[in-house]
Amino acid sequence: MKITITKTTTPNVMPPEEKLGFGKVFTDHMFIMDYEEGKGWYDARIVPFGNISLHPASTVLHYGAEIFEGLKAYRRSDGGVQLFRPMENIRRMNNSAERMSLPLLDEKDALEILETFVRLEERFVPKSFGTSLYLRPFMFGNDEALGVHAVKRATFMLIASPSGSYYAEGINPVKIMIESEDVRTVRGGTGYAKCGGNYAASTRAGERAAKKGYSQVLWLDGVERKYIEEVGAMNVMFKIDGEIITPMLTGSILPGITRKSCIEVLKTMGYTVTERLLSVDELVQAMEAGKLEEAWGCGTAAVVSPIGKLAYGDKEYEIGGGKIGEVTQKLYDILTGIQWGKVEDTFGWVHKL
Ligand code: PLP
Ligand code: COI
Repeated sequence: MKITITKTTTPNVMPPEEKLGFGKVFTDHMFIMDYEEGKGWYDARIVPFGNISLHPASTVLHYGAEIFEGLKAYRRSDGGVQLFRPMENIRRMNNSAERMSLPLLDEKDALEILETFVRLEERFVPKSFGTSLYLRPFMFGNDEALGVHAVKRATFMLIASPSGSYYAEGINPVKIMIESEDVRTVRGGTGYAKCGGNYAASTRAGERAAKKGYSQVLWLDGVERKYIEEVGAMNVMFKIDGEIITPMLTGSILPGITRKSCIEVLKTMGYTVTERLLSVDELVQAMEAGKLEEAWGCGTAAVVSPIGKLAYGDKEYEIGGGKIGEVTQKLYDILTGIQWGKVEDTFGWVHKL
């Protein structure tokens, strides 16, 4: 595909790596292309990073037609840069687009956009283990009219943010609260799509949990408020009595790429991973019986995040003595090892640039 590049005349200074947070500073450029029904995607361009201008009636501002993805470019110890399973993000973005009646991307073009952009912004891929260049592709409906229908115009963009290690002092188990009031999404809704509205609707519960001293909430399903779904904006896994269980993908859960990768790594480690409905009652019983050995969240940002305490109602349960469990640690080591190029990738997941 043809991508025109207009370089910035005012390059940014890359902040010191130890000062990088998450998603706060951006690279010099951004990618944009536009879509119009009948014309398809056009005017693919990389331009200096900056504000964009929208018509006040733009669909995204009224009806929330927005989807996004999140993936990282990692610096290997040999100095090279690589992506992790980028086609998975591209395919998921198209599934999200289909759900929100937004236009699909050509998969090959989308990969070329990622590659071209990361090569251009290579100096922003930090070097220390755990740090990365976080890539944020996103798309929004951009009709300049208030009618409610599938959009005729859309915009796709890619921005990138050099980000620090998610864990400044190593991975620490977090405190999580089981949420029994708000739900994230429902089956038949948009849970499997990575659309902005899912996140806007879930921050209230997260804020309330934070006020009570918890890092995040554990979501229950929106139909029966009975089955475990996700933890915050991550998928969740449990080791109960030797068996690894993760909620099955019912349509309200985001099909995480880290989740999928964890399942494959765990299988090669000799564990059976069961994807099924797991009720909160079953989980509480396992905790009461001391059979919940490990619990962790998994997602691109944190990779693997151990859960040390879980609260339900007015009861708080400690998991694995509040320490990171053996399986959680191994998963973290293997996945981060592959991502940062320290462990041989026997799965064919890394995409070197
Ligand atoms: N669940 C939600 C709601 C998310 O936003 C994310 C993050 O992207 C995940 C799960 C984990 O998905 P992935 O492993 O593909 O990053
Ligand atoms: C993740 O990568 O795990 C996330 O949840 C990303 C978040 C910033 C939406």
